[in-house]
Amino acid sequence: MKVTVIGAGNVGATCANEIINMDLVNELVLVDINEGMVQGKALDLWQTSSILQFDTRVRGVVGDYEATAGSDVIVITSGLPRKPGMSRDDLISVNAKIVKDVTKKSIVHSPQAKIIVVSNPLDVMTYAAYLAANEVVPKRSSEIFGMAGILDTARYKAFIAEALNLSPKSIHAILMGGHGDTMVPLPRYTSVASIPIRELMDEATLQAIIERTKAGGGEIVKLMGTSAWYAPGAAAAQMVEAIIKDSRRIFPVCASLNGEYGLEDIYLGVPVVLGKKGIEKIIELDLLPDEKELLYQSAKSVKEIMVALDDMNLFEQKYGRLNPIPNV
Ligand code: NAI
Ligand code: 2OP
Repeated sequence: MKVTVIGAGNVGATCANEIINMDLVNELVLVDINEGMVQGKALDLWQTSSILQFDTRVRGVVGDYEATAGSDVIVITSGLPRKPGMSRDDLISVNAKIVKDVTKKSIVHSPQAKIIVVSNPLDVMTYAAYLAANEVVPKRSSEIFGMAGILDTARYKAFIAEALNLSPKSIHAILMGGHGDTMVPLPRYTSVASIPIRELMDEATLQAIIERTKAGGGEIVKLMGTSAWYAPGAAAAQMVEAIIKDSRRIFPVCASLNGEYGLEDIYLGVPVVLGKKGIEKIIELDLLPDEKELLYQSAKSVKEIMVALDDMNLFEQKYGRLNPIPNV
């Protein structure tokens, strides 16, 4: 088994570190454009093998996509991170060109690979990777998806655990929608050891946690001057693990919707079953009208950026204007 992580920056290197520590695959290739840095990080990671007890061979390459050939999973983290005052959407044109370039160069050598996109703005970069990959080989949308929901849900769970002074391990939650301020945490699907959250927490505290979760990425950008990497890297690695082990875990993942939730031609965060084929199934929750309204608001903001991407004429295909988001 082989995994390629494109982008050896904060998120990519952390993700690689998590994957090798799981001793999941025979080989992990890190790709970057930063000569020296990528080889150095790969060497440093490989030199943890006897300490941390894993066998995964780690290689770092600059633009040598032949070295990535035969990858089972490709994780795309290349691109600029968000800086203070910059929205995720400001990143669109720069990162779309990078995502297009690295997707095309990598998929040609690993046509069977599942692609996990991490670069922002996440939902639209996942759409960009899908368009780019299909300019090279026919890829099903279930093979190309994005990481955001595991991270956003992890933030939500961490805030709940802190407020209740309970273990985050006991908290289960679902969060849907785009990776942005319109994401939709779902208290009705949040529980602590199967106890519905509202039996343990007052509404004001819960709503404050929901708002903090929505702004969770920005909170860290304000503190550090760049975006988070430990939780994002670990979240992407958890998706790799589910695919490699064919574990069929249910995670919130940015997936292409083809009629689910009444939405089409959009990449959006929804609960899915993740296994060796990628997205094995999209789970359709029976949302209440107010929950669906929030999901559709989020979908509308993602569609706007999809259309903005389409208008840049970077790709042969365009789906942004197809099937606009209906009213609830
Ligand atoms: P970073 O700046 O530390 O790393 C990005 C790396 O990409 C750099 O090493 C850079 O040299 C490399 N790169 C740029 N162009 C490339 C190309 N054409 N080919 C190969 N490598 C290339 O940034 P960081 O913090 O790792 O973030 C990476 C991306 O992930 C950003 O777009 C960020 O906004 C996004 N992100 C997404 C999250 C999510 O939940 N989906 C969470 C956190 C970050
Ligand atoms: C995050 O949520 C900025 O998407 C990045 O940390």
